[in-house]
Amino acid sequence: MSSNAPDPHVVSVDLGDRSYDVHVGAGVRSCLSSVVPTGARRAAVITQPNVGWHVESGLDQSVLEVPDGEEAKCLAVVERLCRDMSSAGFTRSDVIVAVGGGVVTDVAGFVAAVYHRGMRYVSVPTTLLGQVDAAIGGKTGVNLPEGKNLVGAFWQPHAVLCDTEVLATLPPREMRSGQGELAKYHFLGGDGLDALDLAQRIAAAVRIKADVVAADEREGGRRAILNYGHTLAHAIETAGRFDLRHGEAVAVGLVYAAEVAAAMGRIDDDRVAYHRRVVTGYGLPSRLPALLDDDELLALFGRDKKAVDGLTLVLDSARGVEPVTPVPEAVLRQALAAIR
Ligand code: GLY
Repeated sequence: MSSNAPDPHVVSVDLGDRSYDVHVGAGVRSCLSSVVPTGARRAAVITQPNVGWHVESGLDQSVLEVPDGEEAKCLAVVERLCRDMSSAGFTRSDVIVAVGGGVVTDVAGFVAAVYHRGMRYVSVPTTLLGQVDAAIGGKTGVNLPEGKNLVGAFWQPHAVLCDTEVLATLPPREMRSGQGELAKYHFLGGDGLDALDLAQRIAAAVRIKADVVAADEREGGRRAILNYGHTLAHAIETAGRFDLRHGEAVAVGLVYAAEVAAAMGRIDDDRVAYHRRVVTGYGLPSRLPALLDDDELLALFGRDKKAVDGLTLVLDSARGVEPVTPVPEAVLRQALAAIR
């Protein structure tokens, strides 16, 4: 890669002929022209108005905007983008460049998966959450009124550019939300993350995710560990009455998962305390919002998409984090009491 960026970290997601590199570092967005796929003549840059970052693909490029907000993650926006691309004459040999947070990379990745039966895309995630999670691993898709991410495809990007420079202007809540996902990696083999600076930490998180995705691209099993802390987080988000961002809800969910694991004798009190230290070390919440009662939460756990054949939770142990089924209801309730 020729670029002005100082020594970016490069992490490979090893998926055979669909392998790709994730470049992490200050200024790596300026490397875009060197990672666009060979043979692409034009670039459709898909972004949101509030993103505000310009990228230069080195190709003839058109900017297509989707509306701000999570509501843009819907089929109507996918149709709009496909029609605009068709009117503008984009073909399968061109490239999409997704510039934005998780909404943009999920929608643009899905458009790339379905437009002309599939074209290449490069992601330039501009949020911490996007850089350590959403933009890596090829999960693309949109929400339906019936639930989140119900329509989508596994469609891997051609390259990902995680520019740490753009994080400097993220609103503090958005940064904290990303830190909730970052906190998760401390328990997925990222014990040494504390000692790293932000770019190194993002690269280390990406490396952990890349290894998991390479082992189980389509979430037949192991990839579920990337949902560590997410069962309670999704329940809190679905209840919808609380001003918690995704990563903040994940932070509470991580501590909850630790309490469940302790109640099942899988980990000891020191390990639970370590979960609390990591989460609070990022300035994230570790307690349940008041007014969410246990019965409502248990009902919401049952609706989580990982609830197959009884409730499955991703839980810690001396062997590491793994999906566990079933988790007794009494344990779920005991652990809820512990985080109130
Ligand atoms: N965000 C979880 C995954 O990519 O599998």
